[in-house]
Amino acid sequence: MSLLSRVKTAVLIGVAILAAPVCSAQTAFPRQALCVSCHGAQGKSDIQGIPSLAGQPKLFIENQLVLMREGVREVPAMKGMLDGLTDDEAIAIAKYYAALPLNGIPADKDPQLFAQGEKLAQGMRCGICHLPNYVGRDQIPRLAGQRDDFLLHSLLQFRNGQAIGRDSNMAAAVIGVSDADLAALSYYFARITP
Ligand code: HEC
Ligand code: HEC
Repeated sequence: MSLLSRVKTAVLIGVAILAAPVCSAQTAFPRQALCVSCHGAQGKSDIQGIPSLAGQPKLFIENQLVLMREGVREVPAMKGMLDGLTDDEAIAIAKYYAALPLNGIPADKDPQLFAQGEKLAQGMRCGICHLPNYVGRDQIPRLAGQRDDFLLHSLLQFRNGQAIGRDSNMAAAVIGVSDADLAALSYYFARITP
């Protein structure tokens, strides 16, 4: 065996030894530690602008991961993080987060703003797709219990035609809706017990 191939073999074994415990024992999928830093340990985000992933429908997460990997949906904060992600890994990630319970809604509740959001959501029939309790299904995300800053950011993007790579049904659903109404909707969804 040449020195070079011996070194290569040693390096490979070293990598395998180093990588094995990280992939198997402590994490559900190889990149988990990276995701936790933003999306939270239990898939519940404590960071402004970053969505919680816990309890999202499996297919929704799978689809978004593939769209982001392909650069169709651009998330600058996650640039490069999904490079080389296999379809199997995307499925494993989606399965993991879909099964996590989403705990804890904001403790504060302004009854007037909540009621305004509820009325708007009913009038605009958001539940037709997101389901009447807004837990989502298949490729449609859960809104109940999601961070309101992220919901508002997304709704503004949809309305302003800036939601590149996202479903055009959503842009159609919020055409011409005022900033104040989008804020009331976001406030309401964030405070529905998931
Ligand atoms: C540096 C912070 C950061 C890290 C690390 C990160 N994300 Fe994200 N992620 C974001 C932000 C911000 C968004 C929302 C982007 C937007 O729509 O503006 C997002 C959106 C998502 C979404 C779409 C959720 C939705 O409701 O629309 C999924 C799925 C996701 N990330 C999965 C992951 C996975 C899996 C990892 C680990 C490989 C990861 N993210 C790592 C910041 C991060
Ligand atoms: C025709 C079906 C449909 C209707 C009606 C609808 N939505 Fe959606 N909504 C979707 C789909 C599909 C997505 C996922 C978009 C994507 O794939 O990027 C989505 C995504 C969203 C998101 C982004 C959440 C996330 O985690 O990324 C928000 C917020 C949202 N919808 C709010 C609303 C509100 C508020 C209403 C009512 C005014 C509404 N939706 C009506 C289908 C619908």
